[in-house]
Amino acid sequence: MSDYDFSKARFETRQLHAGEHEDLFHAGFPPIYLTSSYYCTDTETAQRLMADKEAGHLYSRFNNPTVDAMERRLASLEGYEECVSASSGLAAIAQLIFAYARPGDNIVSATKIYGGTYGMLQGDIKNLGIETRWIDDAADYDAYRIAIDEKTKMILFETPGNPLLNIVDIEKVVEIAKDAGVLSVLDNTFATPFLQPVSHLGVDLVVHSLTKYVTGHGTSVGGAVIGSKALIDPIRWGPHANLGPTFSPFNAWLMLIGLDTLSIRMERHSENAMEIANWLLDHPGVSYVNYPGLPDFPGHEIAKKQMKMFGGMLGFGAAGGYDHAVNVLDSLKLVKHQLSLGDVKSIILHPASSTHFPVPEDVKEKLGIKLEYIRLSVGLEHVADLKADLDQALRTMV
Ligand SMILES: Cc1ncc(COP(=O)(O)O)c(C=O)c1O
Repeated sequence: MSDYDFSKARFETRQLHAGEHEDLFHAGFPPIYLTSSYYCTDTETAQRLMADKEAGHLYSRFNNPTVDAMERRLASLEGYEECVSASSGLAAIAQLIFAYARPGDNIVSATKIYGGTYGMLQGDIKNLGIETRWIDDAADYDAYRIAIDEKTKMILFETPGNPLLNIVDIEKVVEIAKDAGVLSVLDNTFATPFLQPVSHLGVDLVVHSLTKYVTGHGTSVGGAVIGSKALIDPIRWGPHANLGPTFSPFNAWLMLIGLDTLSIRMERHSENAMEIANWLLDHPGVSYVNYPGLPDFPGHEIAKKQMKMFGGMLGFGAAGGYDHAVNVLDSLKLVKHQLSLGDVKSIILHPASSTHFPVPEDVKEKLGIKLEYIRLSVGLEHVADLKADLDQALRTMV
């Protein structure tokens, strides 16, 4: 096995190599172990493996060699010791909450987060007796302090937030969490560890929907929680092993392919999105543009401080209101109206009726998820072709 020291390697090198381990046949790419269980060489070793006193494999609900390879690579890219995957981004968040909160405890979370996470916290998690205290203005740091009490277990937040791209100052939230002795949990799905490295800021746990930029090609669903061994072990050997949100080895293999090119894709996504955001600002069919890279966008200065580039996600208002927004979505010829984000191909959707469907109308109204608002995941097509398609669709009503 190579003794290359990955702790000194740059991101671009780690995304290709970190977590490599010797394979029987010297395979140049981690093989797919579609294996459910592993025979034991002797009973003493089996018992040591079961008690996590020795690294190895017993059963693929606990861990799997292909999944391990992807987890090690992700942990390295985020700059933490350990990663535990899950069958989806929401399953990753659920297993983390199951590990760290009990009935009677509470979670403090910004309301401006992915609608599915909101729905889970307000539904299944609330039904277990774990309340969420909602912060409507995700950048009102006093509100987080006020919401925390002795039963608070974590602050859960996203930046940039889905779907409004609102920016939260990570350093400030971490400081509040540390002062209160609660966990800081950041959903880094939109930015990825390439654009937004956070381990040096002291974030306790990072969660991802791997379905998005990590896979990058819209080929599989998955999630992960990343952090210190002390914080990840209770998740892996608790809810991950006991509830079974197992991550498929085949999906892990697809994600290893995705990780190989993450930095290059994120740079081009960001360049294309920046150009389209600036172009949309002057378009007669657009009333406003949400993009963290625009100097007038609230939070731009904080985004500049904590992100390398501003990412591939943006949002805009259709100038003619809801009917115009529907016309835009239905008139696009190249860009697909499709759930999800972060694919190499551009994807567009209407958050109020899709990703944020579980959020009640009055909450959407309060948060500013308006009926004319459209969210665009800018892909890697030539930017001139994207502009031409958006232009013809936006002009249907102006
Ligand atoms: C920011 C964010 N977190 C979590 C999720 C949930 O991920 P998954 O769909 O993989 O369960 C999503 C899905 O869109 C998301 O956008």
